[in-house]
Amino acid sequence: MSIAPPPRVPVDDPGVEGHVPSVEEAPETQSVPWRHRHLLDLDVVSWAEIELVMRTADAMREVLSRPIAKVPALRGRNVTILFYEASTRTRVSFEVAAKNLSADVVNIAAPTSSASKGESLVDTVKTVEALGADMLVMRHEVSGAPYLAAEVFGGSVLNAGDGRHAHPTQALLDLYTMRERLPGGSVAGRKIVILGDVLHSRVARSNIWALTAAGADLWLCGPSTLLRGFEAWAVAGGVEGRQFRVTSSVDEAVRDADVVMALRIQRERMASGLLPSLREYAARYGLTADRLALAKPGALVMHPGPMNEGVEIAPDVAAGAQSVITDQVTNGVAIRMALLYLLAGAAGPRRPA
Ligand code: CP
Repeated sequence: MSIAPPPRVPVDDPGVEGHVPSVEEAPETQSVPWRHRHLLDLDVVSWAEIELVMRTADAMREVLSRPIAKVPALRGRNVTILFYEASTRTRVSFEVAAKNLSADVVNIAAPTSSASKGESLVDTVKTVEALGADMLVMRHEVSGAPYLAAEVFGGSVLNAGDGRHAHPTQALLDLYTMRERLPGGSVAGRKIVILGDVLHSRVARSNIWALTAAGADLWLCGPSTLLRGFEAWAVAGGVEGRQFRVTSSVDEAVRDADVVMALRIQRERMASGLLPSLREYAARYGLTADRLALAKPGALVMHPGPMNEGVEIAPDVAAGAQSVITDQVTNGVAIRMALLYLLAGAAGPRRPA
């Protein structure tokens, strides 16, 4: 049975249709207006393409609402999930997404792979390709590692987080969650605050690309030591029509906000001297109920996870009525199904073994 596509939404770029592919069919049999073989970051993804991801995720949500949430779209494809860094939500949701699309899934955790014996990233990527991988979902602690993988891998590479550089699927699921929860279903003109350890955050960087493309009133907030370099980016972004603001004043940032996204303090990437102490950070920059009261009534509370409750976000705020943190996790499956599907279509038919 073919599923009904969601209503067509006008898009800004006339070069890309408002077409939503049917997820019942193999992606290569459809005219999918998605031109990227890899998803490494959102800097090269147009707003029309982001809209296509959102609409395709809507179609995937319909699949997920069925008693048996499975379609044959990626049958015969091998999705290899190669993680050099710890993860719960990204790794599991990619696995669930690939299985819902009927792909064969292989999981590799670097600490128990031959990487621990000194094998290079390039050799590992060539090895998984020789073992049948068509799509490579990859997380790595080094910024840029997925770009190197994409140079040597014959299929599609999806960046599941590289160092402090990019986490494109997280930014897309964040955008999807905001559109789902904000009145009017749009982030255009909405005041969205990203609060915390911006310096080390790949989530913040990918969200800058997504939210400036969406026309949001984006604010970055944190201690000045954790905002280094972003003032210059904001100036350069303004020239290109991708404006955002940078401030160390939590009150100024959160006042009248529609969305406040707290970021984890990334102790594993933190050089000494950036923060006096976690206690002082929590007192001055933590998202507490008092600070949230400055935002618009009903403002959304977000966090990409994992959280350090009591540091960047108070437990009552994380679990409060305004929190959509669990929705972010749930929406990760539909977004990752959409991306696997679109990239498989762009890569074309499965390569012969
Ligand atoms: N948001 C995120 O990337 O979480 P994980 O590290 O659990 O995948």
